[in-house]
Amino acid sequence: RSIKSLTTSASSHILRRGYASEAVPERKVAVLGAAGGIGQPLSLLMKLNPLVSNLALYDIANTPGVAADVSHINTRSEVVGYASDAELGKALEGADVVIIPAGVPRKPGMTRDDLFNINAGIVKGLCEAIAKHCPKALVNMISNPVNSTVPIAAEVFKKAGTYDPKRLFGVTTLDVVRAKTFYAGKAMVPVAEVNVPVVGGHAGITILPLFSQATPKANLSDEVITALTKRTQDGGTEVVEAKAGKGSATLSMAYAGAIFADACLKGLNGVPDVIECSFVQSTVTELPFFASRVRLGKNGVEEVLGLGPLSDFEKEGLEKLKPELKSSIEKGIKFATQ
Ligand code: NAI
Repeated sequence: RSIKSLTTSASSHILRRGYASEAVPERKVAVLGAAGGIGQPLSLLMKLNPLVSNLALYDIANTPGVAADVSHINTRSEVVGYASDAELGKALEGADVVIIPAGVPRKPGMTRDDLFNINAGIVKGLCEAIAKHCPKALVNMISNPVNSTVPIAAEVFKKAGTYDPKRLFGVTTLDVVRAKTFYAGKAMVPVAEVNVPVVGGHAGITILPLFSQATPKANLSDEVITALTKRTQDGGTEVVEAKAGKGSATLSMAYAGAIFADACLKGLNGVPDVIECSFVQSTVTELPFFASRVRLGKNGVEEVLGLGPLSDFEKEGLEKLKPELKSSIEKGIKFATQ
């Protein structure tokens, strides 16, 4: 019936019980890049989310059609489309959560870093507008390379004097979604019950799934764990190649983005124990940004959780990813501060 029925977390049950006695607060969600491959199904999923009262769909092309289409769905939220730069401020005004899937996707043979030159500028512009029109919103950054676009956003917000590290998130949920699916297939356990933390960043070897902490437990061989890790790291490329030039993951990404935005909304609404992995400002390692499990609350990040016990294979993966992640973070900071 809704995004909630797609999740089986304890928090969604708590919220469902809450409906009978408590009013669901008004929440505005803005999707920037709403007419794109991710933006369209993500807008659809946000329209199905009963926690959303206002849905602002912004894109520089094709927004009126997408907004008209989505607006006919008979669910709670009121949908308004915003089509040009001049309307961006109105799209953002009063937003509680801003989701950013704006920017170009990969084609076969490209790394996420190859997108930097185009997407860095797009993200910078959008974040300047966020600082101006909804500085308190929780920002869900989907645009790649996430390892650089999140640091760019942080610098833009710092410059504007609005930076709050609790409110800026790189969306790495798709890595978790993939890790869960691939693990369930090998471990022969029901996929809906699977939990796997994925830490590090969101590109190639910086994506580090912690299968040693996966539940339900399964006795998988080292070879299987190595293969599962590689498949999770290369999951995006698997889709890029299968789409053969027609883009990257859009449908699974929309699902993942909707799960993460839903978690942000639940946190804002005071639902306890909402935990998702995300790429955030962090002291978990020596790197200034790092993805790990995060507890979400009324102000965004309530607590950045640690890594927990790692296997030797994961410890090795962690050391290997640090130089690449560090350089992607620095590239973003350099772009935004120059
Ligand atoms: P797409 O090209 O289908 O859609 C992008 C949309 O952004 C287009 O509708 C375009 O008009 C819009 N856009 C461009 N500049 C804009 C601006 N300044 N303001 C507002 N909208 C703007 O691309 P797709 O497949 O939807 O991917 C979007 C981004 O998401 C890419 O950067 C891609 O790499 C990234 N991505 C991230 C994932 C993650 O796990 N975080 C997974 C998959 C993709």
